[in-house]
Amino acid sequence: MPAVVPDDIDPRRIPAHVACVMDGNGRWAQRRGLKRTDGHAAGEEALFDVVDGALELGLDWLTVYAFSTENWRRPADEVKFLMGFNESILLRRRDELNERGVRMRFIGRRDWRVPKRLLRHMRETEELTAANRGMTFTMAFNYGGRPEIVDAVRQIVDEGIPPNKIDERTIAKHLYAPDMPDPDLMVRTSGEFRTSNYLLWQLAYSELVFTEVLWPDFRRENLFEAVAEFQRRERRFGGVDGA
Ligand code: IPE
Ligand code: IPE
Ligand code: MG
Repeated sequence: MPAVVPDDIDPRRIPAHVACVMDGNGRWAQRRGLKRTDGHAAGEEALFDVVDGALELGLDWLTVYAFSTENWRRPADEVKFLMGFNESILLRRRDELNERGVRMRFIGRRDWRVPKRLLRHMRETEELTAANRGMTFTMAFNYGGRPEIVDAVRQIVDEGIPPNKIDERTIAKHLYAPDMPDPDLMVRTSGEFRTSNYLLWQLAYSELVFTEVLWPDFRRENLFEAVAEFQRRERRFGGVDGA
């Protein structure tokens, strides 16, 4: 039985945007005497259970870290697996997501390192779901927060915007998804306490929740727990309580 949204979650204070770092696939597999890539494969069930949970919660934005600009450092066969696996997820899942009104997006560098066919499927998936008005589900793929800021600066310079006209809004408008609101909540699995170059600009005032659960074991209940934790936090944005 899928879990229902628990009573301790206040439906009036659901975060608009939750960003996940799906970490711990390799360790999950190693603990079972399996290959690291089996851990990635097992992560798919976690991901789509979280998508279901996000839809039940009524999130407007869900963003997941699927492949970082640093992940190219991994063994060639693991990188190759991840390229093929992400392509296969798109092809197998996009129609269902589309029927459920989910808008799919990709953020990251669409450079020569990403197989052309995968780039094409990403573009097609974005086009297929572009008119949907349900949740926006963004996959960060070949994504790094610093490269994103570098790309924004390059574009700003390229557009000839004078220095005294550049403010935070200018930078934000030149990120990969300018309409994406900053995450309210970032969840990272597997007991690692770092951002690993994820959404550096956007996470400035996000609430961070870390859990020991390895990504392939993560389910919507864990997302609900993270949202409950988020609701226990007090966000001050540099101000003073109650002022
Ligand atoms: C996260 O799991 C998936 C990707 C980075 C693609 P890992 O593969 O990093 O798993 P661990 O951290 O080695 O256990
Ligand atoms: C972050 O996880 C990237 C993704 C989940 C896609 P990593 O496993 O690559 O991060 P580090 O190496 O532990 O910082
Ligand atoms: Mg990892």
